[in-house]
Amino acid sequence: MKNIAAVVLAAGKGTRMKSGIVKVLHSAAGRPMIAWPVDAARMVGAAPIVLVVGHQANAVSNTFRGAGDILCAMQEEQLGTGHAVACTRDALHGFRGTVLILCGDTPLLRGETLQELVDFHREQDAVLTVLTARMDEPHGYGRVVRDESGRVLAIVEQKDATPEQQAITEINSGIYCMESNFLFANVSSLSSNNAQNEFYLTDLLSIAVSKGLTCVARCIDDADEIMGVNDRGQLAEASRILRRRINQELMRSGVSLIDPEHTYIDYGVTVGHDTLIHPNCTIGGDTVIGSNCTIENSVTIDGCRIGNDCHIKAGSVLEGSELQADVSVGPMAHLRTGTVLQDHVKIGNFVETKKAVMGKGSKASHLTYLGDAEIGSDVNIGCGTITCNYDGVRKHRTIIGDGVFIGSDVQLVAPVTVGRNSLVAAGTTVTADVPPDSLAIARVPQVNKEGWRLKHK
Ligand code: UD1
Ligand code: MG
Repeated sequence: MKNIAAVVLAAGKGTRMKSGIVKVLHSAAGRPMIAWPVDAARMVGAAPIVLVVGHQANAVSNTFRGAGDILCAMQEEQLGTGHAVACTRDALHGFRGTVLILCGDTPLLRGETLQELVDFHREQDAVLTVLTARMDEPHGYGRVVRDESGRVLAIVEQKDATPEQQAITEINSGIYCMESNFLFANVSSLSSNNAQNEFYLTDLLSIAVSKGLTCVARCIDDADEIMGVNDRGQLAEASRILRRRINQELMRSGVSLIDPEHTYIDYGVTVGHDTLIHPNCTIGGDTVIGSNCTIENSVTIDGCRIGNDCHIKAGSVLEGSELQADVSVGPMAHLRTGTVLQDHVKIGNFVETKKAVMGKGSKASHLTYLGDAEIGSDVNIGCGTITCNYDGVRKHRTIIGDGVFIGSDVQLVAPVTVGRNSLVAAGTTVTADVPPDSLAIARVPQVNKEGWRLKHK
């Protein structure tokens, strides 16, 4: 029996981020921060998941557009966490069971931890269970007040705490399990008579205690997991921990990382076994990398599909491109969106491609621009080749047939077609179509003026 719903608090602005973007939409390891706790709620089977939105409400709800398990509840004014949860009353109307309450700014929370919290809550038959942790530096957090026998009595906010209470190191994570009937019977009767004049959700604890209802705390060992992100320093720290988890998972699955602390792989990237990734690579955008590949240092890959046995050499940037098997790229190549490199293609240093398809075994080894080009198989593109695809107004295509040899320093003024097996001589500016099996040569014949230097001393 699941019977779990979740509430994710995300109405706050995140003032300390000093940003035009609402806090929960800042990216942590390649996805909006709030997507992490939402996924953790999904892992325990919570449905629906109600987001309490306020600041930039549309932007937050659009992030989950099309997700059937997500509802949004509007909190027009941020009057406190208790008020925020009260705003979910309509969204959860008719729901009876356990409500998980999470914050949108705790990206490190794992689904396993939430599952343990739910299991503990149900074992204890509690109306309210709060997730807590011990912290050496508890400043800013609500403190968990217990009696001599260790029973939970209340949560006291930093600003309301006495000096003795401030000395308590067990803190409130802001993550709870509550029975829906208890929650909605009491959440609207909270008072804002406190240091911040806010409706504190945490007051539900002392309310439960005063009514003699079972109220417990579950203290976890890893305080990192409940770290709330309030500023950019904490965002960087949380992202680092998320990336470390991603990297460890990849290494467990058979991927080699030379320096995992300096390898930046986003959520959603998949990498096949026996692929080796050197330091300082940044890989994101749901990239898929096959097996037995080598990605040398300082490579950036965004939104690419890379087959098996590929070799991406140092300093290359790959965006929105597809590489089939045994493709070699770089060093310092730039593959732009729409590039498709079929099996055994070789792209060398200082080559840029855009919307260029290269057939099997074709090569562009040095200093070349290939844009809006359709290149057959076994084509050799000489050093310094340029597809002149832009006339200042529109883009035009260059088509090069199978087996063509393009000499060095050739300009192909598009639209233009070079027929299969033709040869274009070095230094040629191709302005007209070349038929198959031909030689195209267009350059001014050389003149040698003998003794010229002797006369011009
Ligand atoms: C809260 C807890 C504190 C706990 C800490 C953990 C209360 C009263 N205090 O304090 O005990 O140690 O979290 O991080 O609950 N929010 C809304 N609407 C509001 C107010 C807040 O949606 O009206 C959201 C915020 O956007 C944020 C979350 O609730 O995601 C927590 O709010 P915040 O103001 O950061 O609470 P804390 O003071 O950190
Ligand atoms: Mg906070």
